Amino acid sequence: MATSNNAVATAVIHDPLVEADKAHYMHGYHMFDEHRVQGALNIVAGEGAYIRDTAGNRFLDAVGGMWCTNIGLGREEMALAIADQVRKLAYSNPFSDMANTVAIELCEKLAQLAPGDLDHVFLTTGGSTAVDTAYRLIQYYQNCRAKPHKKHIIARYNAYHGSTTLTMSIGNKAADRVPEFDYAHDLIHHVSNPNPYRAPDDMDEAEFLDFLVAEFEDKILSLGADNVAAFFAEPIMGSGGVIIPPKDYFLRMWQVCQTYDILFVADEVVTSFGRLGTFFASEELFGVQPDIITTAKGLTSAYLPLGACIFSERIWKVIAEPGKGRCFTHGFTYSGHPVCCTAALKNIEIIERENLLAHVKDVGGYLEQRLQSLRELPLVGDVRCMKLMACVEFVADKRSKALFADAVNIGERIHRRAQDKGLLVRPIMHLNVMSPPLIITHAQVDEIVEVLRQCILETAAELRREGLYSGT
Ligand SMILES: Cc1ncc(COP(=O)(O)O)c(C=O)c1O
Repeated sequence: MATSNNAVATAVIHDPLVEADKAHYMHGYHMFDEHRVQGALNIVAGEGAYIRDTAGNRFLDAVGGMWCTNIGLGREEMALAIADQVRKLAYSNPFSDMANTVAIELCEKLAQLAPGDLDHVFLTTGGSTAVDTAYRLIQYYQNCRAKPHKKHIIARYNAYHGSTTLTMSIGNKAADRVPEFDYAHDLIHHVSNPNPYRAPDDMDEAEFLDFLVAEFEDKILSLGADNVAAFFAEPIMGSGGVIIPPKDYFLRMWQVCQTYDILFVADEVVTSFGRLGTFFASEELFGVQPDIITTAKGLTSAYLPLGACIFSERIWKVIAEPGKGRCFTHGFTYSGHPVCCTAALKNIEIIERENLLAHVKDVGGYLEQRLQSLRELPLVGDVRCMKLMACVEFVADKRSKALFADAVNIGERIHRRAQDKGLLVRPIMHLNVMSPPLIITHAQVDEIVEVLRQCILETAAELRREGLYSGT
């Protein structure tokens, strides 16, 4: 059982590490005011599904780092494989006429695992650079086909595709669109996110599906089909709130793409490498054969940074047409880094050897079932879970689905209570999202659900005391 963490807040204030963090370390999604006061939870160790902070508190990490510690932390055989590769070859130039044997082996393996004719792999440094690569690849492809106007991209509101200027612009989460940053607008467009819980006008699922497909087709026609290059979509939206679309949504969207010669880009940075019980989800779970898949995170289970943009033979044939003398002027110093590729190969070996995909189907099904029991609690508007991607959405009023004011910080309140009880769930506005490591056990699922239940009940009581909540 995880230990209580009540002493942390007072213990860390005098920790010189906390002061150094505040003075020098700018985090991703740095919240200046909060960080100045509260500092951060400083993690020093991790094993399996648990992490430990500098004060010795242990947490069950139901977030799996950032949707990524798939095989669990602290694997000795991974450490040995990485160390061996460092000794053998820590780096070699990946450009033009240079390769390394591990990168070749990994690309071959990814081509085998990816669906259909997705046989070509460009290795990147993470998810954002994989999505950015997909975008540049699409431009290159359209120019090679002499379709220079076919460059517009359609994505969904509430999607997250990364943090470079371009990928942040393809994504469009309201909370990410802060006025201090600028976004690319000219070639990027958005349609509704397919969240049945928030379907407009009380549409049922079938009506909502028709609405989404019609909206997509209208958007294409208004831009001119000859101008639309690609549709970008996460099979299950992750940080947008674990949005599980209506049945056949992807199939229908894909059919529209095929009608108008639009490339389908499945951003599987989260959904690949076991999180949904498959290596890749697009085809196996949603029946779609994408033209491009982007992946990262679970590719190495976060032991080292690596991403990949995997694309079809159809694209390859166009861009690599013999005799054209072309060069794909795109690459990263660390594309195909041999140590990162070794981590990916070892990670895939472990997923296969330990039959983790079957385990996820089992334990993920259990999580789906157990989490649904939270629906009856106050504050809980919706519970969404597909295998090991899960989310609880909190509302001020269950009937109207009205949200709390941002200042109430509902997701953060529940997250803080859970942290005090040794459980990490990730707060995103009015949501708590979860993506535990694939090795999570049934007993740990019980622990997640029971701690969350307690935290939700305590938070509802707290909000009632503050006069902010009157629901049941
Ligand atoms: C669907 C999706 N795409 C892309 C990214 C960006 O990946 P990275 O943070 O490795 O750049 C993320 C990160 O969370 C993601 O969830």
